[in-house]
Amino acid sequence: MAKIIVVGSISTDFVVETHNQPAQGETVFGEDFNTSFGGKGANQAVACAKLGANTAMIGAIGDDSFGKALIDNLKDYHIDTKAVKTAKNTPSGSAIITLYNRDNSIIYVAGANNKVTPEDIKNQTDLIQSADMVIVQNETPLPTVESLIEVCHQLNVPLILNPAPARLLGQQWIDKTTYLTPNETEFAELFPGEEVEAVLKHYPNKLIITLGSKGALFHNGDQLVEVPAFLVEPEEVIDTTGAGDTFNGALAVALSNDLSLEEAIRFANLAGSLSIQQKGAQGGIPTLDEMKQSPHFDAKWNI
Ligand code: RIB
Ligand code: NA
Repeated sequence: MAKIIVVGSISTDFVVETHNQPAQGETVFGEDFNTSFGGKGANQAVACAKLGANTAMIGAIGDDSFGKALIDNLKDYHIDTKAVKTAKNTPSGSAIITLYNRDNSIIYVAGANNKVTPEDIKNQTDLIQSADMVIVQNETPLPTVESLIEVCHQLNVPLILNPAPARLLGQQWIDKTTYLTPNETEFAELFPGEEVEAVLKHYPNKLIITLGSKGALFHNGDQLVEVPAFLVEPEEVIDTTGAGDTFNGALAVALSNDLSLEEAIRFANLAGSLSIQQKGAQGGIPTLDEMKQSPHFDAKWNI
């Protein structure tokens, strides 16, 4: 069984569904409200666990009532939370999500997620060393992400950096990262003014640009490879929140089960396409059994 460590955010999602977007100073009626479990880190960890990986998280919750629920949720998925600390006098991370006609926009408030320090990473060197794959995102402070990149590089443990939300990253850190998975917006932030094909060619088998319903792109050293998404009918799209997280978690699982990068991306595309057919960032993340029941599951994926 693959062992995956996810370093990252653990948050409560406060989700409003609306057909009307308010202008500045305007009040509109919304259709629905609910809270659900989220945070890009936690979502990716849940994806890894549901897809059969032995999963542990490094992160932080606040000492509020949300924190306990957040930890309990991770435990429900058998995620090891020993390296998740409780930050004193700090609110747990939260995300205010507007589902406007089923597409989301998010305001993220880090809270305790900002209390994960480079020290915390160094203290977990043994845990990190035991992993087949490590994943991190940008809802964690930059110095912490940099320190993780350094530790993984030193220990030779492969690392996926999902640079979401968009944030600049120094060249040395890009070089030391094994896989980098921006979407188009994040790509533009990381490589301002640069042309997609040229940058992909510069980072073969490392840079994977996700394109939502169009799939993903990478360069295999010989040529550009487009990995198309699996079609989901518009009426089947319920909630795209967390689709990118599902993709990244599934990618980690597939790569640590020795699938080629192209097949791993196909596997991740399938997981992402299933995840958007249910409400909530974690709601639709498929289990390995659900993946296997999909008509698109490829028998050659030996997972
Ligand atoms: O990627 C989706 C996640 O990002 C949500 O669960 C929310 O927590 C946001 O920050
Ligand atoms: Na979903």
